[in-house]
Amino acid sequence: MASLKKSQSHPLRRRIATRRKHSQLPKDLLTIRDIPRQTIIDLLESAKKLKFGHKKGQAIMPLKGKTLGLIFEKPSTRTRVSFEAGMNQLGGQALFLASEKIQLSRGESLADTAKVLTRYLDGLVVRTFDQFTLEEWGRHTSIPIINGLTDYCHPCQALADAQTILEHKGKLKGLKLAYIGDGNNIAHSLIEMGAKLGMHISVGCPPEYGPDPALVKRAQEEGTQTGSIICVTSDPNEAARQADVVYTDVWISMGQESEQQPRITALTAYQVNGTLMKSAKPDAILMHCLPAHRGEEITAEVLDGPQSVVLDQAENRLHIQKAILMEWIGRHTR
Ligand code: CP
Ligand code: NVA
Repeated sequence: MASLKKSQSHPLRRRIATRRKHSQLPKDLLTIRDIPRQTIIDLLESAKKLKFGHKKGQAIMPLKGKTLGLIFEKPSTRTRVSFEAGMNQLGGQALFLASEKIQLSRGESLADTAKVLTRYLDGLVVRTFDQFTLEEWGRHTSIPIINGLTDYCHPCQALADAQTILEHKGKLKGLKLAYIGDGNNIAHSLIEMGAKLGMHISVGCPPEYGPDPALVKRAQEEGTQTGSIICVTSDPNEAARQADVVYTDVWISMGQESEQQPRITALTAYQVNGTLMKSAKPDAILMHCLPAHRGEEITAEVLDGPQSVVLDQAENRLHIQKAILMEWIGRHTR
């Protein structure tokens, strides 16, 4: 036993460590908060290697014979295409299931649909409105369910964002990310990601469009263990002060179209423009999950300017999600 303790690389120790890691991994990827910190670090490392291999033209087939379903109740460009391409690049297949084209739209229950799909698929990416609906998919399936965006959070986006920040800044811990605008699904996942990885998150938003206070409180508690400081202010310049990363997202998310006018009125002072960028560090990077509305939450000058890394973010959806697919779908057995 003494020699086992000394030898971290002993095969038995590796097997035990792998088993332990997998036993901690939740069946579904529903939020950043649910993912163990070490798994996030491993995913980032794996995504870096996958990106390198992809650029070199290396082909790997770890998901040969596996099929991923995608059920989307909202439109998507990046999430859909990056998951489909990623699954194909890993040797598997992806099936896009527009929710209005399956029997779900004619009244078949979610539970019946989920149980049937479990018999065909090895994993399912779900884009829906309510986080509770996503959890329902998880409850009625034995295959992994991956959150492809809900009104509450967008974990795959935040993981791609972490990869992008790491590439540009060389680290995550101790950096300050300022999120300016609507305290929405993107803000929620960034707050949870910051708390996990020791990044400081400063949200500048109107009080009526702030992030969920319960989520902020949980993240602040988690942050006491990782050194992350999470704060919310109504002053956008204060939020952006000396930030390493400035991040914004649309003011009207999918499903909020009827709230357009009050949202624009409340959020106009939170536009990310050249003046706001001056509050951040001179070498700050500018992030946006896209799609963007130039002239609303961000000016064209900033979005298309030299500090913008938005296309790297979009690209990294592919690489980090391949790492996610290998971790969740790759280990799933029938
Ligand atoms: N950022 C993002 O999730 O984009 P899509 O809505 O195009 O998937
Ligand atoms: N907050 C936006 C993100 C889109 C990727 C929305 O939910 O529409």
